[in-house]
Amino acid sequence: MRNEQLQAELQEALAESYQIESELPRGGMSRVFVATEVALGRKVVIKVLSPELAATLSAERFKREITLAARLQHPHIVPLLAAGQAGRHLYYTMPLVAGDSLRERMARERPMPIPTIMRILEEVAHALAYAHAEGIAHRDIKPENVMFFHDQAVVLDFGIGKALQKATTDGGDDDHALRITKPGTSLGTPTYIAPEQAAGDPDLDHRADLYALGVVAYEMITGHPPFAGRSPQLVMRAHLHDPPDPIGPRRPDAPPALVRIVMQCLEKRREDRPATGEEIAQALRPASAGKRGPLARALGKVPLWVPWAIAALSLVIAITAVVVALRSGS
Ligand SMILES: Nc1ncnc2c1ncn2[C@@H]1O[C@H](COP(=O)(O)OP(=O)(O)OP(=O)(O)O)[C@@H](O)[C@H]1O
Ligand SMILES: [Mg+2]
Repeated sequence: MRNEQLQAELQEALAESYQIESELPRGGMSRVFVATEVALGRKVVIKVLSPELAATLSAERFKREITLAARLQHPHIVPLLAAGQAGRHLYYTMPLVAGDSLRERMARERPMPIPTIMRILEEVAHALAYAHAEGIAHRDIKPENVMFFHDQAVVLDFGIGKALQKATTDGGDDDHALRITKPGTSLGTPTYIAPEQAAGDPDLDHRADLYALGVVAYEMITGHPPFAGRSPQLVMRAHLHDPPDPIGPRRPDAPPALVRIVMQCLEKRREDRPATGEEIAQALRPASAGKRGPLARALGKVPLWVPWAIAALSLVIAITAVVVALRSGS
């Protein structure tokens, strides 16, 4: 549909609630508009699902998934504000995020500094841990869906990916790989897709998001996602069968703890990945706190009173030894 036509239709249907101002550059298959919410005078973003997507998704399922996603409240998740149907279009609204997307930031900062990467990863891992604990998976983690708000990473488009994916995988024909990558029929790029998603497994769980986060991390560290430069079908196959090239030779300054957790996220079998987003955040913490050795780390875990108790005990033993020595000498 032409730009002006959709914008005019939307404006007519939503006239009482929103004043549509401009369209943002297109990313996936939806259209995204900046608007002012009339009642509160605040800027919002209205995301309108493409007619192709809307056709695969019942308004009922859309509402169900959106209602679930609307529960999410977290410092690293962009909240949903409203959702509905405007004429024949399904839409939802969210706050306008003023900063860059991670895609833009990766293009600007090459190579991305390791402390920046670790902080972004930790923030997104916390967002995922929280949403997963609420029973909500993202299903479309990629650099376009991470933006920066006051330099904090925030995750966009939570929950809707799942609704779309369910809609497009229901029906179960064999050519899943083609269907999922064919423009206009499903969720687009297979770059961030987990092996079980590539295989068309209908029983995906939160660990598909952890794999996608591993792909995003690998891309931030090395400058390229694993399996870059291949056709969508070959990328899907590589996710299923090929190990990613090691990170070390491309990025010698990456700390071992970071490399280890990223490669663990990229394990083919989901049982071999970290169990939760929290585990990823934890793995990054000691390394991001600095280059402390095992002894310093062990000492860091000892309660404060222990060294004092040892010192006092040593003093008592020393005094006793001196007294015993003096007595036996006299
Ligand atoms: N709330 C927002 N605030 C500011 N910019 C946004 C917001 N939501 C989306 N954008 C920007 O609008 C563009 C299109 O977003 P859109 O979500 O449609 O594409 P995408 O993330 O590439 O694909 P997907 O539909 O799979 O999420 C992106 O460049 C994104 O950075
Ligand atoms: Mg998006």
